[in-house]
Amino acid sequence: MTESVLIAGAHGGVGQHVTLLLGDSDRTARAMVRDESQVDEMETLGGEPVVADLTADVDHAVEGCDAIVFAAGSSGDDVYGVDRDGAINLIDAAVEAGVNRFVMLSSMGADDPESGPEPLRDYLIAKAEADEYLRNSGLTYTIVRPGELTDEEGTGTIRASEGLELGEGDIPREDVARTLVTAIDCEPVYGETFEILSGDDAIEDALEAVSSP
Ligand SMILES: NC(=O)c1ccc[n+]([C@@H]2O[C@H](COP(=O)([O-])OP(=O)(O)OC[C@H]3O[C@@H](n4cnc5c(N)ncnc54)[C@H](OP(=O)(O)O)[C@@H]3O)[C@@H](O)[C@H]2O)c1
Repeated sequence: MTESVLIAGAHGGVGQHVTLLLGDSDRTARAMVRDESQVDEMETLGGEPVVADLTADVDHAVEGCDAIVFAAGSSGDDVYGVDRDGAINLIDAAVEAGVNRFVMLSSMGADDPESGPEPLRDYLIAKAEADEYLRNSGLTYTIVRPGELTDEEGTGTIRASEGLELGEGDIPREDVARTLVTAIDCEPVYGETFEILSGDDAIEDALEAVSSP
């Protein structure tokens, strides 16, 4: 089993759930934050904090990890600098450090940014380009593309599909976090890109079915 997991964006809405889940398991949750003042909060969640910015040197954050969960995001402020180039910076550091497993939180719509709503177009292009870079990186990747995120309590169940037939919808951040964490050691989703929404399937079952014909 994967032992030490770096969470990029550990202080974010999804990232805090990921940190809590991993911190409460046998794994080490290396919680990456860019602001020193968030360190105590990460420890409270069960994480081992590391201060690093995706737009700068991240080698010390990646060193010694077995896997990375990318749950960071620009909130629209600097989509190419953070959502694309920040992700690429971390992917490059992972390759350099020999961290082979990378789980990417992407977004519905990143498969076809030009068809997305105009205000989201640059964001979706940035996510699509980061996803493509990850696919070509040689890392063992999984790309998870949720619909709209909510702060509702998680249910532990989702719908997942590679086939883009889910349509629009939403999903609690907590269930997205559970999906990212479950994906880390779920071999059926190694090398897969898929969408998720709220649904009735247990997360592990939904992931195992993703790549089935
Ligand atoms: N919102 C939606 O409906 C939706 C739908 C589909 C996919 N997504 C994707 O899901 C991601 C996570 O969502 P969320 O709600 O958890 O986002 P969030 O609360 O905004 O969290 C993003 C985290 O990324 C961190 N971050 C930003 N720039 C960074 C940098 N340069 N270096 C290191 N960390 C940095 C932020 O740190 P600070 O705390 O320091 O700001 C924050 O903790 C989004 O970014 C988006 O790509 C969102």
